Order: sequence, then structure tokens, then C-alpha cells
Amino acid sequence: MRALLFPFPFLVYANTARAYCLKDNYVGSTFFDKWRWETLDDPTHGRVNYIDKWSAQAGNLSYASSNKFIMRVDANQIVAPGARGRDSVRIISNTAYGDSVTVLDLTHMPVGCATWPAFWTLSQAGPWPKGGEIDVIEGK
Ligand SMILES: *[C@@H]1O[C@H](CO)[C@@H](O)[C@H](O)[C@H]1NC(C)=O
Repeated sequence: MRALLFPFPFLVYANTARAYCLKDNYVGSTFFDKWRWETLDDPTHGRVNYIDKWSAQAGNLSYASSNKFIMRVDANQIVAPGARGRDSVRIISNTAYGDSVTVLDLTHMPVGCATWPAFWTLSQAGPWPKGGEIDVIEGK
């Protein structure tokens, strides 16, 4: 399961000229405009039910204050035996970057059984072997 719990300011610096300049600052409620909540079946075959942005906000699985963004997995519902899995959140940025420096400031990340917090980048060229994936955090 890829379950994320990331209260974080998220900064991206892009190499626009000779020096890196702050291009985007993802913090607090701006998160909701800059990411897409994916609802696909888990590509790694975990028992997880990725929910859309509106459901995530309604169930408080995605929450923003002025300086934090929180993603969490549901810890209240009993998952039925035939259900797709536990409600969780998987997001992808709307913006793609070339050369960049990314600063991810996490204050908490889940650990333990059945958690798989992850943060990774994908190539715009497509999946392997056309493009690649850089796993920044794989917290299994
Ligand atoms: C949603 O989560 C945030 C952060 O944990 C919390 O402060 C807030 O009270 C929660 N809102 C509801 C309606 O549970």
C-alpha cells in the first residue's frame, strides 16, 4: 500500500537562468489546486482504495492549514472483506519540472505494518524503460 501522511511545505527550485530560483511553493491550502488526487487501482497490488480529492477532504484524509498539508490513511472504518481496500490518498503534481531542486519538509511520516509512505518523481517520457522513476522516499 502506498499510504502517505505528509504534513509538508514543498518547495521546487527551477534552474531558470544560471542560479536556481524559487519556482513553486506548495504550502497549506494551495496544495488543493496544484495536485491531482489519483483514484486508480494500486499498481503495486496493495489493498488500498485511493479516493478523490473531494472525498479526501470530506473524510479529512487531506487537510490543509495555513502552513501545513496533511495526507493520511483512514483509521476509522472497518474494511469489508470484498472491498478494494482501506481509503488512502495518492497525489501527483499538476506541474512537471526539468532541472530542479525539491525541498520536502516532513514533520511526520507513518511507519509500521501495512504502511508504505512514498515520495517519488516520474519521467515525462513515460514508464520504464522509456523514462524512469526516482524514489526519494520508500518508507516500507
Ligand atoms: C482534520 O485534521 C486536522 C489535522 O489533523 C485536524 O486539526 C482537524 O480538526 C480535523 N478536522 C476534522 C473535521 O476532523
